[in-house]
This record gives sequence, C-alpha cells and structure tokens, in this order.
Amino acid sequence: MKVGIIGSGGREHAICRALSKSKKVNKIYCFPGNAGTSLIAENIDLELDNFQKLKDFILANKIYLVVVGPEQPLVDGITDYLEKFKIKVFGPNKIASQLEGSKIFTKNICKKYNIPTANFGVFENETESNKFLDKSKFPIVIKADNLASGKGVYICENKKQSLEAIKEIFDGKFGKAKNVLIEEFLKGEEMSFFIISDGDNYQNFGTAQDHKRVLEGDKGKNTGGMGAYSPSRLINNELEKKILDKIINPTLKAIKDLGTVYKGFLYAGLMIINNEPFLIEYNVRMGDPECQTLLPKLDTDLFEILNSCCENQLKQIEIKWNNKKSLCIVMCSKGYPDTYKKNIEIKNIDLIDLKPNDFLFHAGTVFKDNTVLSNGGRVLNFVSISDNFSEARNNIYRIINNLSWSDGFYRKDIGYKVIDQ
Ligand code: AMP
Ligand code: GLY
Repeated sequence: MKVGIIGSGGREHAICRALSKSKKVNKIYCFPGNAGTSLIAENIDLELDNFQKLKDFILANKIYLVVVGPEQPLVDGITDYLEKFKIKVFGPNKIASQLEGSKIFTKNICKKYNIPTANFGVFENETESNKFLDKSKFPIVIKADNLASGKGVYICENKKQSLEAIKEIFDGKFGKAKNVLIEEFLKGEEMSFFIISDGDNYQNFGTAQDHKRVLEGDKGKNTGGMGAYSPSRLINNELEKKILDKIINPTLKAIKDLGTVYKGFLYAGLMIINNEPFLIEYNVRMGDPECQTLLPKLDTDLFEILNSCCENQLKQIEIKWNNKKSLCIVMCSKGYPDTYKKNIEIKNIDLIDLKPNDFLFHAGTVFKDNTVLSNGGRVLNFVSISDNFSEARNNIYRIINNLSWSDGFYRKDIGYKVIDQ
C-alpha cells in the first residue's frame, strides 16, 4: 500500500518511520519531508497550500492513505477537500479543526458543555479590554484567537504589559484580529494528553510532558518544544477518568452536536491542579516533540491503527505500548526561537551510533550534495527509551557527543522533574 505524509518536522519523520515498519506499507511519499524522511520515503516538494496539486499527485500515484501532520492544512480544510475526491485522509475536518484554529471556538464549547478551563472574556477592542483589566488580578493571560505557532500567548505580570500585548494582537501581529481572549492564569503543572478517534470510538494515545521554553529551568521565550518525556509524571487512573469524563467526552459530543465527527489525533494541553484537569488548549494533531517521544513506545502497527480510524473500525484494534520511559531532546539552531542561520552543515551525522532503543528524527534538515544541512529552528530530535528516564537521557547525551555541529544548542535539563528531584 502507498501512504502519503503531509509535513516536514520531527513529528512527520517519526510517523514515517513507524509506518515504514508496517508490512502493509510498501511506499511512502512525504510532502515535503526532510533529510531524515528521504532515507525511508520519497520526498515530494509541493506547496502545501496548493491542495489541487497535492490531490492530482495523490490520485496519479494511487496513494491509499494520507496522514496529515501539522495543524495549518487541517484548519484550512485539507481533509474536506481531499475526501471530496474519495481520498482516504487521517486528520479532522475543517469544522472539528476549529478546536485548534480558534481559541474562542474552544472556549465557547467549554462554557456550553461545562468543561473545566480558565475563566475568560472575549473583547473586541482595546477600550473594552482595558476596562476589564482594571478589575483583574495579575498575572493574566492574553491570547490571539487564531493559529500563531505557539506565539500568540502572553503571560502578563501587570496592566502595562497586558495593554502592550493587546495592542500587538489588534495591530495584526498574528494576522487580522477581530477580538482578543483574556483569561485567568492557572497555576499548576502541564500535561499533554492524547486520544485517537475514528468518529464513533476513541482510544487513549498516551501522555507526555513537553518543555516549551527555550532556556533551562523552563525560562525564556516559548518555542515549538525543546524536548519531552513520556509518560507524564502526573497521570493516574483517577485523573485519567476525570480527563475523559470532564474534558474529552463533552468535547466529542460538542463536535457531534455541530453535525460532524472528530476523526484523527486530538491533543489536549492540560493544566493539572491538585489532581484536577483544566483545559488550556486543544491541538488537532499529534504534538511535536511528543509524537517523536511516544511513537517509539508503540507496539501496534501504526498503519493498521490509522487505517482503521479512516474506516470507522478503531474498536477492532488493540493499541499496545511497551512500558518503557521515553525522553526526547530537541537540537536547535543557535538563535532559535528568534533569528538563526540556515544551511549550516551538520557534520558526522552518519557516524551517529544508535542502539536499538535510540532514535534520531530529523526536523529542519535538507540533503544537499551528500551533506545534511540545517534549514529550520528545530533541527534534530534525539529519543531514547529505557527502564528509567535518567538512563534514557544519558543515552542521548552519548549520541549527541558524537555530533559535530557548532551552530546547534539544546537544553540540558529535559525531564528534570522526573530525573533530578
Ligand atoms: P497555548 O498556546 O494556549 O497552549 O499556550 C501556550 C502556553 O502558555 C501553555 O503551554 C501554558 O504554558 C501557557 N498558558 C496558556 N494559558 C494559560 C493559563 N490560562 N494559565 C497559565 N498558563 C497558561
Ligand atoms: N509540543 C507542543 C505542540 O506540539 O504544540
């Protein structure tokens, strides 16, 4: 069977590797993929926003299943478009993808279905927001409504910072803004919680903790993710039940009430306070780097799982995981998440010695003249699974030490809450 994967990050390389192990998959195309995926798949350089060209390629090459990695094409309706041509697509449709595409859409669902989340207000201009701030406690959280690659969220310590954030949002820093979301700051510990759904049934798909901030000690600017570990140290049976009953089930019902269904991965970004879950945000895809961290623990054929979702048959599948601890460290270009250089050679990558429980997933890389060059902010993901987190992290350090890339940096404290305390 031929499979297509949309995206070019570490998440897509991890999906590509897992699919390549399936006996049912004999060819993978990545749109556009990276240097890592080109070793196991054929990279096809197409503009992702040109759905028509993509559809033509998929039909001409008889691709059986298309897996969508990132949120932007989902929010833009790629699933609806390709399904019109009878193409099998794993990923939610445009209506369901608003769970990530519009924070206000999700907040309104939370309100209507009584889903625990931070108290919030939606404001249409600076004057109204200003009045609200006069009666607010700080810190407070200001958010742009639309997709902003993790950058449209400001945690403000005082009114002055809040007004600056609101101005930036209304000035169009994250695209045209009709309104701004202001919400209560929740103090707890975050957790990424995943399910996979075929529209009628769903199954849990693991938990993880990612490190979003660029500096050690979880300080500095927000990034796409500097590393992660799985499982989260917070998960327990009681908490899991609360997450499903109070957050996941009402959300899936809300999507049904809109006349459609949720098919794909759903990633709940949660704040856990005294073993109680609060929804911070939804993502309509796997997390990156959580996906790279989780998939090496999966013992069931990923193709069978994704294909069964597209056929409404997920209940026929038993998803099995090994019970190892998994840790991922992301290596980035110096300067990320601000400006950084591209096209820097990563030397000795072919000398990297991966043991059976170690994995290297490429993100922002390209092959040129037989060398691997960096071409993004997050460049390489090193993952190791082991009986304990400490050993997993040490395995990764051993691997990274073989690499020669003076322009790269990584956080040396990934997993500190499960290792150093
Ligand atoms: P989001 O893009 O909504 O996930 O927000 C990015 C990050 O901002 C989250 O991972 C949290 O660390 C933080 N954050 C967002 N909303 C809140 C909130 N209401 N209270 C505390 N932290 C928040
Ligand atoms: N790791 C955060 C995200 O994928 O959005």
